[in-house]
Parts: sequence; C-alpha cells; structure tokens
Amino acid sequence: MIVDKFHRVHDYLRISLTDNCNLRCFYCMPEEEYAFTPPSRLMQPDEILGLARVFTDMGVRKIRLTGGEPLVRKDAAEIIEALATLPVQLTMTTNGTRLHHFTDVLDRAGVRALNVSLDTLREDRFRLITRRDQFSTVMGNIRLLLDRGIQVKVNAVIMKDLNDAELNDFVAWTRDTPVHVRFIEFMPFSGNHWSSNQVVPWTDMLDAIQTRYPVERLQDEPHDTSKRYKVPGNAGTFAFISTMSAPFCETCNRIRLTADGKMKNCLFSEEEMDLLSAWRNGGDVRALIQASILQKAERLGGQMPDSFRQLEADTLHNRSMITIGG
Ligand code: GTP
Ligand code: 5AD
Ligand code: SF4
Repeated sequence: MIVDKFHRVHDYLRISLTDNCNLRCFYCMPEEEYAFTPPSRLMQPDEILGLARVFTDMGVRKIRLTGGEPLVRKDAAEIIEALATLPVQLTMTTNGTRLHHFTDVLDRAGVRALNVSLDTLREDRFRLITRRDQFSTVMGNIRLLLDRGIQVKVNAVIMKDLNDAELNDFVAWTRDTPVHVRFIEFMPFSGNHWSSNQVVPWTDMLDAIQTRYPVERLQDEPHDTSKRYKVPGNAGTFAFISTMSAPFCETCNRIRLTADGKMKNCLFSEEEMDLLSAWRNGGDVRALIQASILQKAERLGGQMPDSFRQLEADTLHNRSMITIGG
C-alpha cells in the first residue's frame, strides 16, 4: 500500500498523457509563449503501462487519464486499451472536443464515466475562455456520451465577473439532463495570473443558487473532491470543489504522474520524483514511490497560507496546470 505520514492510503493515480491541448484556456495554460514537451520526452505507451502496473501492484485501484488534453495524443487509443488490462477503474478528464473519435475505444476499455471540462453554456464566452470555436462539438459530445449511458461530470471553473452569473443556468441544465455539474474554485498555477479576488468561495456559489432553487444535500463518496447537491426532482446534480476556501486534504487518496514521468505527491507539491528515468535505467521505482509519498505535506503541498486571501500567486512554486492535469 502507498501510505503517507498522515495514514492516508493512496489508491487513485492521475496520469497526464501530454501537456499539449487543442484549446487555450487562459486559466490553465501560461499566457506567455508555451513550448509543449517534445514527444521523445513523454512517457511511451509501454512505459505508461509498466509504471501503472507498479502502482496497481502497490494498491492503486483507480486511474484517471488527464492532459493537457489526453485525446490529442496520437497513440491515445493504444494507451487506453493497454491500461484497460489492469485491475483498475479507468477513467478520464477531457475537454470533450475529440470524444466522438473515441466512443468505440472507450466502450472496449469499459470506461463508464468521464469528466468533461466546460466553463460556460454560452458560445461567445466559450470562445473567450478557450480561444477556440468548439462549443457545439463539446455540447454534442456530452449528449453523445449521455445517450450511450456514460456518466458525465462537467467541470466548470468559476471565476468572478467571468462566468459566475451562469451558476443558475448550469443548475437549470440539470433539470432534464442527467449531468453532474461541478463548480470549481479558481486555483493558482504558474503563469495563470491568479488573484484571490477572482475566487468565488463555494458558500457564495451555494447562496446564489439557493436564492433561486430549493436544494438538497447529497451524500458524498469517500475521498470525493466535491460536495454534492441537487434540486429535488432534477435529472442531474451539482457540486462544489472547494480547494481554495475549504480544502479537502484529510481524505486525499491521490497521486499524480506527469506526462514526462515525474510523480507529484500533491497537486500543489513543489518536489517531483523522476520515475520515468528510474524505469528507463532499471532503478527501484517502488522505493521511489514510497520515498515520495513519505514527503507528502499534510495540506496543499505545504505551500499555502491558512486563508487563500493571504496568498500571493507568485510565491507558489509549481508547474502550470496544463503540465499537471488537475
Ligand atoms: P472524480 O474522480 O470524478 O471525483 O474526479 P476528480 O475531481 O478527482 O478529477 P477531475 O480531473 O475531474 O478534477 C476536477 C477538479 O478537481 C479539478 O479542478 C482538479 O484540479 C481538482 N482536483 C482533482 N484532484 C484534486 C486533488 O487531489 N486536490 C485538489 N485540491 N483538487 C483536485
Ligand atoms: N483552477 C481550477 N480548476 C482548474 N482546471 C484547470 N485549471 C484550473 C484552475 N486554475 C480544471 C479543468 C479540468 C480539471 C482537470 O482541472 O477545468 O476540468
Ligand atoms: Fe491531496 Fe494536495 Fe489536493 Fe490536498 S491539495 S487534496 S493533499 S492533492
């Protein structure tokens, strides 16, 4: 088992397949010219499978593929099919633009739930946020997944004065559509020009929804990143991911592997363990995983003040979001 100093058991691995993406969301990708990691420095399919097998031998039971956008990788289908042979629940977080090319692969791999990023229900605002024109493709693909009986969680990063006026539109969408919308507090990463004024705390979001709808609190899953709610009678649900105002680190079960093969023991950790080099050189990957997890801080990578209001973004040492995968 992969257990840290605080007795947290880590059985959920997030593997980033690439830091490349076909969208340009400003909160994720640094605004400055960004050079994607060249393919030769990325983990190859056999290396991803090999490393994932070490993790599953050590107790990992859930693997989420992330990016960048995982489905822009040319060998994404090969990787998905390889990982599907492991004894894990396999899933993915995607921007939804390429899902229609992968429905058969996902079926064969037994993927029954996906998380799709979508921060707005307005086409013009989608273009503003992502700097690309793919709104109708993403909406169409969410429909496609739902029609195939796949569970869809929609991740919406909420930012003050950008899309916070849409909270109730998202909730209205859940009336007849069985999607699970999760409103995410905006988080700081290298190059994303975060400021605490742009964060909408989850309690403020809930207040705004409650002025319009009756709401019912739902039971959370163990280790869930979100607090779940629904409007009674609606087909879908909504939830809040409150990293900034109410971190949920006590129940953390998550490990990350970046596309260039570095293990991160926390979303906000500065230190990284180079598992890919060890794998290529015949090193003891298991020992490195154990060493990394023992360095894991109790909360938020040990880098955040008690209140996010006191945080200056440029004091954080971390990668940009696009190279971590969330
Ligand atoms: P489920 O497995 O469906 O619960 O998804 P998830 O929330 O674990 O993953 P997803 O990739 O959909 O991420 C949704 C949001 O939660 C993103 O903004 C992530 O950055 C954030 N998130 C995911 N895992 C963690 C975590 O370990 N800590 C924190 N603070 N945020 C996380
Ligand atoms: N703050 C909060 N969530 C973010 N995501 C990307 N960047 C940020 C950020 N700065 C979310 C995306 C995606 C998930 C993996 O992380 O919406 O759904
Ligand atoms: Fe786990 Fe770090 Fe996320 Fe906290 S911030 S829940 S410790 S990954």
